[in-house]
Amino acid sequence: MLKIITALLLAAVATIVHGINIEESGYDREFQANNQDGLKNASNNVLCKKDQHIIENQTDLNVLSNECSTVDGSITFQNYVEPHINLGNIKSINGDFLVEENNLVVSVQGDSLQKIGGTFKLYDLTSLNAVSFPRLHDLNVVHWRVVPILSSVVWDNNIDLIKSLIISDSSLTSLKGFDKIEKLETLNINNNRYLESIDTNIKYISKQLSVSANADDLILQMPQLIWANNLTIRDTKEINLEGLQYVNQSLEFIENKVDTLQLSELKSVGGTLGIIENRHLSKLDFNNLSQISGGLMIANNNAIEKIDFFKSLKLIGGAIQFKGNIRDTDFPSLRLVKGSAVIESSSDELDCSKWVTPNAGSSIIRGGKIECEAKGKKSSASVRQDGTVLDRTTSDSSEEKETNGSTTTGTNLLLLTLAILGTFRLIV
Ligand SMILES: *[C@@H]1O[C@H](CO)[C@@H](O)[C@H](O)[C@H]1NC(C)=O
Ligand SMILES: *[C@@H]1O[C@H](CO)[C@@H](O)[C@H](O)[C@H]1NC(C)=O
Ligand SMILES: *[C@@H]1O[C@H](CO)[C@@H](O)[C@H](O)[C@H]1NC(C)=O
Ligand SMILES: *[C@@H]1O[C@H](CO)[C@@H](O)[C@H](O)[C@H]1NC(C)=O
Ligand SMILES: *[C@@H]1O[C@H](CO)[C@@H](O)[C@H](O)[C@H]1NC(C)=O
Ligand SMILES: *[C@@H]1O[C@H](CO)[C@@H](O)[C@H](O)[C@H]1NC(C)=O
Repeated sequence: MLKIITALLLAAVATIVHGINIEESGYDREFQANNQDGLKNASNNVLCKKDQHIIENQTDLNVLSNECSTVDGSITFQNYVEPHINLGNIKSINGDFLVEENNLVVSVQGDSLQKIGGTFKLYDLTSLNAVSFPRLHDLNVVHWRVVPILSSVVWDNNIDLIKSLIISDSSLTSLKGFDKIEKLETLNINNNRYLESIDTNIKYISKQLSVSANADDLILQMPQLIWANNLTIRDTKEINLEGLQYVNQSLEFIENKVDTLQLSELKSVGGTLGIIENRHLSKLDFNNLSQISGGLMIANNNAIEKIDFFKSLKLIGGAIQFKGNIRDTDFPSLRLVKGSAVIESSSDELDCSKWVTPNAGSSIIRGGKIECEAKGKKSSASVRQDGTVLDRTTSDSSEEKETNGSTTTGTNLLLLTLAILGTFRLIV
């Protein structure tokens, strides 16, 4: 179910109902006279079997809807110059339903419509404010973009089928339900500036889950999600992914306003795990996570002072990059990092020797380079693939600057930059 709650809802629906005035053409009356018992057997009718219907006005649409309860092909609206689109008796569209680039259409409705078998596309419709298909429960790909005043959407409370849902630049305020839907290919919800809640029980997302640039106080509730292929969450106030167990590719949390990230069920990440610029984030739990096949990047989260929430993490397949006000790091189970490690902390409490001078003699970092800087004091080392530490150096860049910065520090900075760039390439 996609249910949009706004004060405007009832008013909008009432407007639609009263606003539509379908004129009967001579053709329609004749057709109805021949068809008193209801609709013809749609599958026998040539019109209903056409691949493509280009609709320019409601009269065209009435001809189609009076003739066909099932439309085999696609319906496209072109040069449509009326404010309302009403699908009348049409129950099922097996192809696409496409309305694009129109600034006159205010509403789209169909009280009988149950199915759109292809793509349901609403693109660049600057006046559209309401979509009403109260019986619609069988969908495939829903892709809406640039529908800036669309605030009311009504469809069946129990959607049976839907494959992908992509909504951007709408005025929707909430997105809920899909209670019968376990799996989606893509859920991509972005730039809906009034969207304050996303609440679903979806369990699997096989291609992409992406949420970004919606309302500042967006609350994302997907507690049943077990598995996602690739997942990016940005600009969100609360994130509930408490059941998430596997991510096949990357998992990224960027510029969120959350203070908590509780992913205590997460077991593996197939790509990079990035936790970046979440300024209020201080409570994290990734304690079941045992493997990250890509890199681990934790950067510019002002409130994260200790990275000690990866109690089971054994293997990092890429590089490590930590940046921020980090006082301590603790990875009790970590045995192998295949890439480099670059750690840059503004705190002078961070003990870089943990990384640069490993107790066991050989380092868990195998990617060639370890750089650790704590408040200007920098330690670095190269490591061989077997973990042997070579050329360990420690320098204090603040002292160097005081004596003579131009040559030594300049070169060091260049080397550091190259090292970071090199590492970065490994991560991405
Ligand atoms: C409609 O026509 C198809 C194909 O001729 C036929 O298989 C079907 O039984 C008909 N349905 C009805 C309700 O008459
Ligand atoms: C509706 O559009 C069709 C072309 O698809 C055109 O022939 C017809 O005259 C239009 N009818 C009205 C009432 O505008
Ligand atoms: C994963 O998502 C990110 C962010 O949306 C995107 O840049 C990247 O291309 C995606 N990767 C794959 C393999 O789809
Ligand atoms: C993603 O990972 C899960 C669990 O490890 C696995 O069952 C699934 O086949 C993977 N999917 C893809 C597309 O790689
Ligand atoms: C790991 O997950 C299991 C259930 O899958 C749970 O019982 C356990 O408490 C979790 N461990 C941690 C450290 O969170
Ligand atoms: C720094 O060293 C360079 C080259 O050794 C020298 O030319 C320059 O005058 C020195 N600058 C300062 C401020 O000592």
